[in-house]
Amino acid sequence: MRVLVTGGAGYIGSHTVVQLARAGHEVSVVDDFSNSRPSAMARVSELAGRDIPLESFDVGDVERLGDLMDRGRFDAVVHFAAYKAVGESVERPIAYYRNNLGATLAVVETMVRYAVPHLVFSSSATVYGADAPVPMTEQLPTSATNPYGWTKVMNEQILRDAVVAHPELRVALLRYFNPVGSHPSGRIGEDPSDVPNNLMPYLAQVAVGRREKLSVFGDDYDTPDGTGVRDYIHVEDLAAGHLAALDRISAHDRPLSVWNLGTGRGTSVLELVHAFERASGRPVPYEVVDRRPGDVAASYADPTLAERELGWRATRSVEDMCADTWRWQQANPDGYPV
Ligand code: NAD
Ligand code: WQD
Repeated sequence: MRVLVTGGAGYIGSHTVVQLARAGHEVSVVDDFSNSRPSAMARVSELAGRDIPLESFDVGDVERLGDLMDRGRFDAVVHFAAYKAVGESVERPIAYYRNNLGATLAVVETMVRYAVPHLVFSSSATVYGADAPVPMTEQLPTSATNPYGWTKVMNEQILRDAVVAHPELRVALLRYFNPVGSHPSGRIGEDPSDVPNNLMPYLAQVAVGRREKLSVFGDDYDTPDGTGVRDYIHVEDLAAGHLAALDRISAHDRPLSVWNLGTGRGTSVLELVHAFERASGRPVPYEVVDRRPGDVAASYADPTLAERELGWRATRSVEDMCADTWRWQQANPDGYPV
């Protein structure tokens, strides 16, 4: 297929572009580099074994996106482009709504105009809201606790409405749990532009000596060791889930599908800290502090539907996730070159 990947220079997009290209798809990327670096794309081309065509603009720009769609004759769009920092979304809600809704509106509008039928959309387990029972199934009601989460709920609704009015569309909503890890080569990985908000990149920066210690946000949750439990999924497994979803929606007639992409296994903060210490051979000093507002005790997927319908399941262990993160972190202690 000819596939346009929006946000393809970012963390999950870069890994997915490599897999798409290696599977024989003809991939193009559009990214405005608002949260990534052009040097990531050079490494993506290197791992893909061919030059990946790249355009740099805001996908919310309907004119430019329309021009690209007109020239590209794409069969599918994999749409990653969005802002993703929960805390920043509380401080800059209007920027988040503009970017994350505007990008999807432009994508779906131009897909309809240029008859591009297949869309794979990056949603998130955040759409299960605050009090969802675990393991989380796709049937649970959706809600959110912050503007970022609402942009995902709203994006899902926009796409549900679009397929009703445009029955030629085939849409996959992929709800990711907690993506971590990196390509086993250590050439591409997660490169937070600021102090990491998420546990795994923070841990990695402590182990490599960039930060003094990890703050563990609460040890009084109703979980086996009191710390928060999450469903960490290796980014390579996650990328593979996109290829499986693309295959499935192009071979079946269901207009809209929703799949959880998770492992189904929960890992606590302290379990991840100790797994990282084993993988890196370095101590990870930590201190237990207050809970982070908005955090839930436990979040993990019921991945049965994706297994059944996509023939996909996550195969990489927490040890793999830590080993691959560590390889990337050690080889690139300051992230991608500027
Ligand atoms: P990322 O920030 O690394 O990648 C997003 C990419 O999109 C970046 O390269 C950024 O420059 C680009 N971008 C943003 N807005 C754009 C715009 N308007 N036009 C063009 N490019 C734009 O994030 P990621 O972790 O790779 O996440 C990818 C997608 O997955 C996002 O939609 C995110 O919300 C979703 N998601 C991420 C996680 C996670 O924990 N990483 C979890 C669930 C869902
Ligand atoms: C994991 C666990 C923290 C940092 C977030 C978004 C979610 C999704 C993925 C996009 C929790 C604890 C963390 C630290 C810690 N993104 N922690 N010290 O909160 O599950 O999900 O990223 O859709 O929307 O909310 O991931 O990695 O931030 O936290 O103790 O410095 O680690 O309390 O238990 P989270 P996370």
